[in-house]
Amino acid sequence: MFILSNLGRLPSEFDGQYFVPYLKHNNPQIRFWAIKNIGKLGNDSYLIPISNIVFNDTDPIVKRESVSTIGRMRNENAIPMLLTLLNDSNPEIVLQAIRALLVFSHVSNISAELKKLSNHPNEIIQTVIRKNFFSHQSTSNVQYSHVELPSFMKNVVVHGDVREVMQFVPDESIHLTFTSPPYYNARSYSTYPSYQAYLDFLDNVFKQIHRVTKEGRFLVVNTSPIIIPRVSRKYSSKRYAIPFDLHAYLIKMGWEFIDDIIWTKPETSVKNRNAGFLQHRKPLGYKANACTEYVMIYRKETTKLIDWNMRQYSKEIVENSKITGEYETSNLWHIDPVFDKVHSAVFPTELAKRIIQFYSYQGDLVFDPFAGSGTTGQVAVDLGRYFFMTEQIVKYIERIKEKLVYRPLLSKYNHCFLSLEEFEILSQGE
Ligand SMILES: C[S@@+](CC[C@H](N)C(=O)[O-])C[C@H]1O[C@@H](n2cnc3c(N)ncnc32)[C@H](O)[C@@H]1O
Repeated sequence: MFILSNLGRLPSEFDGQYFVPYLKHNNPQIRFWAIKNIGKLGNDSYLIPISNIVFNDTDPIVKRESVSTIGRMRNENAIPMLLTLLNDSNPEIVLQAIRALLVFSHVSNISAELKKLSNHPNEIIQTVIRKNFFSHQSTSNVQYSHVELPSFMKNVVVHGDVREVMQFVPDESIHLTFTSPPYYNARSYSTYPSYQAYLDFLDNVFKQIHRVTKEGRFLVVNTSPIIIPRVSRKYSSKRYAIPFDLHAYLIKMGWEFIDDIIWTKPETSVKNRNAGFLQHRKPLGYKANACTEYVMIYRKETTKLIDWNMRQYSKEIVENSKITGEYETSNLWHIDPVFDKVHSAVFPTELAKRIIQFYSYQGDLVFDPFAGSGTTGQVAVDLGRYFFMTEQIVKYIERIKEKLVYRPLLSKYNHCFLSLEEFEILSQGE
């Protein structure tokens, strides 16, 4: 083992026959290293002993290494074997076979076989095939380049139901959405006939957001499980795991999960649920004080890497948008909650600041469909981004006006606050 794993680079004339007996060794790690060393020689005369391993070895790691070694040989004689391996039940083996066959993808029957995997049950296989064969096909009706944004949406707040406003928002016009949706029926500003109706409402809104989001850009959603108090002493209160339930909808509509950030607040700032347990101390009656909220990060699914998004910006914008100095490196963000005199559920400017800095560039358009008191917009302007927000309750629109009035950068936009009708008209002029 020691010798096999430490041989390093081998001279081209090295006799690979030394390794062949080890391909039958009882220890899978020795078989693994024997294959790895044979692979370094790039000699196709070992194709047959290695193909025996491919089909007969029971160890998945040894088997995967043997397919990878065959791939590195780039030998046409291996093609029939690699095509057979496309039907293997282990997705890692299929992926290795795909990688090896992509070298021959200019051969029409090979590319035809590979394309058949675009609906493979394994999502990583799907992505590899779609990226290689179908990524140039775009179905959406995109009017703006990646950095551009519609001027009629720059620093605009629309008073209306987001579902109605969204019909006038062009495809792929938003760089980042950061929002905190209504918390089902836990707050006075929203009521839904049922939890399912609430999830259907969010499904509708986030599908629209997906349409208007630019390729490969981010959606950041702040939610937390909520509690609906019990009807009477005869019943228990009900808890709804909003972030977890919403997550399944978001994935299904084409958002890729990127990160879960936990926003923690001091325990003294949240409701105490421990009064009963503190007294009785009986198992099953424990209730944790809820000091956390979720900040879930998603990216609009694309075959392009994040580097592609970064490359769309000029050097100057990239330089000016860099995060300087200290920053939070973990996914645990300790931020004190804030309280607003008008709105009962605002998020702290510090939270918005981090999200906007980490997930957008200067000059980008940042959207908050559930604006509330307008924290997202206020912070976006301060960080040299543009905002677009919707809010359906008039007293919150007034609060946004109050908060934004101090933003000198905004003075040149006199069409900042619009009704749904005004927004529709402006959208048609663009
Ligand atoms: C959790 S609050 C957002 C608070 C905000 N993050 C802040 O810092 O002020 C959600 C907001 O969504 C608004 N809202 C709910 N349903 C809406 C809809 N269909 N269209 C537009 N706004 C809506 C509510 O009025 C509420 O102000």
